[in-house]
Amino acid sequence: MKIALLGYGKMGKIIEQIAISRKHEIVLKIGSQNTHELTSENLQKADVVIEFSTPHTVLSNIEKCFAAGVPVVVGTTGWHKEMDQIKEQCNHFNGSLIHGTNFSVGVNIFFHVNKLLAKLMNNYPYYEVQVEEIHHTQKLDAPSGTAITIAQGIIDNLDSKQEWKNVLVTDDKADDDTAAANEVLIESLRIENVPGTHTVIYDSEIDTIEFKHTAHNRNGFALGAVLAAEWLQNKKGFYPVEAMFNFNN
Ligand SMILES: NC(=O)c1ccc[n+]([C@@H]2O[C@H](COP(=O)([O-])OP(=O)(O)OC[C@H]3O[C@@H](n4cnc5c(N)ncnc54)[C@H](OP(=O)(O)O)[C@@H]3O)[C@@H](O)[C@H]2O)c1
Repeated sequence: MKIALLGYGKMGKIIEQIAISRKHEIVLKIGSQNTHELTSENLQKADVVIEFSTPHTVLSNIEKCFAAGVPVVVGTTGWHKEMDQIKEQCNHFNGSLIHGTNFSVGVNIFFHVNKLLAKLMNNYPYYEVQVEEIHHTQKLDAPSGTAITIAQGIIDNLDSKQEWKNVLVTDDKADDDTAAANEVLIESLRIENVPGTHTVIYDSEIDTIEFKHTAHNRNGFALGAVLAAEWLQNKKGFYPVEAMFNFNN
């Protein structure tokens, strides 16, 4: 496949290596310094776009992909509030889009088991649940998109929770680390060089159950994004990343 990379930062560069190792060709790379090259004509040289840019640029980049009629894999996080609007646009343009806060296979297994665990914990209301996420200090959004997906998985399956609340912990101290009974608390920590660690914690007076995913590097996210690009070929529509895993069958 011919691939266009929108965003050529930490992720874009690893995606390039993995795509080439899987015999794909990179035909366009866009960063903040060459956005003038982001034209319909250039996009149409690609079979698929992989978008890992910034929360500020992702929406207009997606629109450009729809307008050019090129399928797009969206890994950028921090735009979940605009999801419905983008889904409508996708339908309007008869476009193809797959999006995920985390494309790693391991994290998608984690998402699935997190939901099963939350459902099970309805029977044990004396455990209080909390999510902790740790990322590198350059990360622009907090909480991480992955942590939001985890919290949403809990909210959808644990009857006592309806919302999430985020606390950014700095210098080992959170401003306000309390949450209402119906809220899932997400604690965000920023530590140098951490690619992404997520822990779901069920705590009681008697014991603590911890369910944890640790990314050792960014390769899992990048491979998942390339697999998603391969999966999206010849498909129309708006897909969450779970669509390519099929865990329920
Ligand atoms: N879904 C997943 O599996 C997953 C995994 C990891 C990260 N992410 C998300 O992916 C995004 C990128 O992460 P990263 O670590 O690669 O960030 P990064 O290293 O900061 O890279 C962002 C890139 O976007 C470029 N950019 C700026 N404006 C642009 C525009 N208008 N069009 C296209 N590119 C533009 C930047 O260009 P310059 O270099 O010129 O500034 C930079 O190359 C973040 O939202 C992150 O949370 C998702």
